[in-house]
Amino acid sequence: MKIINYQLPTINSSPIFHSSNRAEWPTDWDTVFGRKSPFVIEIGFGNGRFITELARKRPSANILGIEIANPSLVRGARKLRAAQVNNVRLTQADAKYILWALCRPQTISELYINFPDPWRREKHYHRRLISDQFLELAASRMIAGGQLNIATDHADYAQWINERLERTPYFHSRRSTTFVTGDAYRINTKYEQQAVDVGRICHYYHWERGERETTSSFASPQEFHMPHAIIQTPLSPPQIGERFTEKIETAVADQDIRATFLDAYHSYRYDSLLVETFVHDPLVQQHIAFAVRQRDDGSCVVKLHDIGFPRPTLGVKFAVGQLTKWILSLHPDGKLIHSNLG
Ligand SMILES: C[S@@+](CC[C@H](N)C(=O)[O-])C[C@H]1O[C@@H](n2cnc3c(N)ncnc32)[C@H](O)[C@@H]1O
Repeated sequence: MKIINYQLPTINSSPIFHSSNRAEWPTDWDTVFGRKSPFVIEIGFGNGRFITELARKRPSANILGIEIANPSLVRGARKLRAAQVNNVRLTQADAKYILWALCRPQTISELYINFPDPWRREKHYHRRLISDQFLELAASRMIAGGQLNIATDHADYAQWINERLERTPYFHSRRSTTFVTGDAYRINTKYEQQAVDVGRICHYYHWERGERETTSSFASPQEFHMPHAIIQTPLSPPQIGERFTEKIETAVADQDIRATFLDAYHSYRYDSLLVETFVHDPLVQQHIAFAVRQRDDGSCVVKLHDIGFPRPTLGVKFAVGQLTKWILSLHPDGKLIHSNLG
C-alpha cells in the first residue's frame, strides 16, 4: 500500500490549541501554561479581539479562551499569532463542560462573558448560558474575590441576568448597582461595537465572588478503567452482528445518562464486531464504538474500542453493561463470566 505523508494543518499542532476531549479531568492549567499565574477565562471569544487585547495588557495572566464554534478558534488563533502573545490557550467545547470537567475548584481569578448568545425565543431560553446553575458552577471554580464580568446588549437577556445575579448568594456587585451602561476602560468586542454603532444600550456587570461555599461541588466526572465484560455465547461476533437489525436506545432511570447503539460492523483486521454507539453523559456526549471479540478460549470480550478517543465515563460503563445484556439475551446458553462493571 502506498503511504501518503500527510502533514496535519495548524489546528492540533499549534500550542495555542488545547484539545478539550483529550484533556485530563480536571486539568492542571498551571502545567499547561508552564507557570503559576492568575487564571483568567473568556467564554465565547468570537473573533478573538477581546482576548488578544487582554493578553497584551495582562502578560502575567494565564488566559484560557473557550469557544463552542470551530471557525472562531481559527480566527482567534490568527489574531493571537499576529499579536505574538503566548499567554493564551484556546479550546473548543461548551464552556459548562470546560468549567465542570477541566477546571479545579477555586482556581479562576477572572471570568469574562462578552455578549453571550441571547436566545431570543422563549422556547430557547433554556439554552441561555447564564442560569442559576451556571452561576453556582462558576462560583465553585472561582477564587474568593475573583471577578465575574458579563456584558450584553440584549435588553431582555439583561433583565434575565439581573434577576439571576441579584438572587445568587455567591457573588456581589463591585458597583453600587447591578449593572452599569458605560465602561470607559473596556476592551470593545466585535458585537459590542456593532451594538454601539446602532445606538443599542449595553449592560455591563462587574461582580465579585464572595466567600460562601457552593451547595454543590460539581465534582469533575469520573473515568472508569477499561470497562469490559467477558461472556460465553454460542454466537460468533458476525452472528451477533446479523441480529443487529435496528438501533437500540437505552437510558438510566432518573439520571441524564443514555446510550444508543446505532449500527454494527465487522472489523476484518481484528475479526471482531464493532458497535457504533452514541453515549450521553450529563456533560459529555461521545460518538464511539464498542468491540465484541472472540478470544482463543472461545469466550467473547465486550469492551470499549479506541475509535473516537473515548473517555470511559459512567455512561460508557453503562453502555458496555447494556450491550453485554443484549448479546446475552440473544441465546439461552449465553452467560456472563466476568465483568468490572460493578
Ligand atoms: C454573540 S457572540 C459574541 C462573541 C464575542 N464575545 C463578541 O462579543 O464579539 C457569542 C459567542 O459565544 C459562543 N458560545 C455560545 N455558547 C457557548 C458555550 N456554551 N460555550 C462557549 N462558547 C459559546 C458563540 O459561538 C459565539 O462566538
